[in-house]
This record gives sequence, C-alpha cells and structure tokens, in this order.
Amino acid sequence: MKLNLPQAAGPIGVFDSGYGGLTILNKIREALPEYDYFYLGDNARTPYGTRSFEVVYEFTLQAVKKLFEMGCHLVILACNTASAKALRSIQINDLPHLDPKRRVLGVIRPTVESIEKLTKTNHVGILATIGTIKSESYPMEIHKLFPNIAVTGEACPMWVPLVENNEMNNEGATFFITKNINALLSRDELIDTLILGCTHYPLLLSKIKQATPEHINIVSQGEYVANSLKDYLRRHVEMDDKCTKNGQTVFFTTEAVEKFTESASLFLDEPIEAHRIIIE
Ligand code: DGL
Repeated sequence: MKLNLPQAAGPIGVFDSGYGGLTILNKIREALPEYDYFYLGDNARTPYGTRSFEVVYEFTLQAVKKLFEMGCHLVILACNTASAKALRSIQINDLPHLDPKRRVLGVIRPTVESIEKLTKTNHVGILATIGTIKSESYPMEIHKLFPNIAVTGEACPMWVPLVENNEMNNEGATFFITKNINALLSRDELIDTLILGCTHYPLLLSKIKQATPEHINIVSQGEYVANSLKDYLRRHVEMDDKCTKNGQTVFFTTEAVEKFTESASLFLDEPIEAHRIIIE
C-alpha cells in the first residue's frame, strides 16, 4: 500500500525492539553529532529475539512505516534480530511500494565488513539472540565477503533479560556469560574474535571480558555501524540532503514513558524526555 509520506527533510530514524539500540545510537551520535535523530523503541513488544520471522518482520515493518510517516528518509535497524529477520524483505519487497527513494539499513553488514581485519586465525564466534543465530544471517553475510572464515554461533537467551532487569553485575550474569562463552569456545578452539551480535551485550562487556581468554578480540558493533553510516552519507549526498542537522534527538517508545525514561538511563549519560507512540 502506498503511504502519503512527508517529503521535507527529517531526522534519521533509529529503531530497536527496546533499549539495546541506544548503544548503537550513542556511537552514531558520537560520529555524527550534527544530525537529528528519532529513536523508536518497541518496548511494549520486546524482546524480539525469541519471536518468529513473521512476527519480527511485521513489527519491524510497522516501525519503519511509522518513522517514514514521522518524516525520516533513512532508518537504521539498530537491532540484530530485526536486521536478521526483516531487513532484506523490507528492502526488496516493501521499499519499492512505500517510497523507492527512502532507505532502511541494518547493523549486521557493517559489523561483518570489519571482520577480516580483526581475525588472524580466520575463526570467529558470534554471540547473539536465538532469533539471530537461527536466521544464520551472520554466517551468510560473512561468507558472501569472506568464504574462508569459519563462523560458530552461540545463542545466549539469558543475556538480554539480564540487562533489561538490571542484573548485569550479579553472580547470575557471571554464570550465564561464562557458560555460553565456554560452550562457544569448546566448539572451535581456534576462535580469536568474538562478535557481540546483539545490541544489549556491550552493557555486559566487563563480565564478557572476564570470561574470555585474553588473546581473543571482543567486538562491539556500535563503532562499526556508526562509521559505516558516516561513509554512507558521504557517498549518498542526495540522502544526506534529506537529513536535518540541528544536533537533536527525540525518543519514542511504545511502552509507558516513565518506564522507558528510567531504564534508558542505564544506556545514556543524559536525562531524556520520551514520548509514547502506538505502532500498528
Ligand atoms: N535488540 C535485540 C538484538 O540486537 C535484542 C533484544 C531483543 O531480543 O529484542 O538482537
């Protein structure tokens, strides 16, 4: 269905199933502080990591349409699960109808592009949600660019709830993090690079480091996504012209505003004002 979309320039949309995308937004804003952003967290329906392809696609498409209607020409899916399960379908099947000039970009490709520089053994491990691991998106994207890299994935279903419930610094977190990392490394002892393939995981970084042998690189994706976006805007002047630049960010959530504001403070250093919206 064709939407009646505003044509004037607008903020860059950053979408996540909840709070995790704020780790990506932080890095994007560090790299591109002059731009405006609309952050949309579908907190009322999070987590996406355990949901089916159909549902993640349906929810993500609703969010993208909403951000387009709110004036965004460019939307970043700052969620690995949405990037894994919905991005390709939206790019191929939906964008041509919605507005062929608007763009939706994900977080998996920019992360994957950096891998070759990081691994010396050509063996990498992916830590992510069940949905991202099951989608096989990381091995598929890595093998398109680097067919010789061996990829082993480990689903870590407890890690997002640990962050969402602010249990990151407790013994329970140490237990689950150690368990998943040991399981992954026992399946491929040559792994020298671990990708944190979920936006929440940078908040567990100190515990992940404690559970990982020192010679292994741990890769948080925010910086790679931010640099890739910077490069994209430099190469696509027509899109850059459609992004407003007043250095402002507005936060939207599908949950209660008070809840979002309180939990978002775990991810952000500044006080924020959030607005509730309904997406359907
Ligand atoms: N943001 C999601 C991701 O990066 C994790 C949270 C969820 O399961 O919704 O995969």
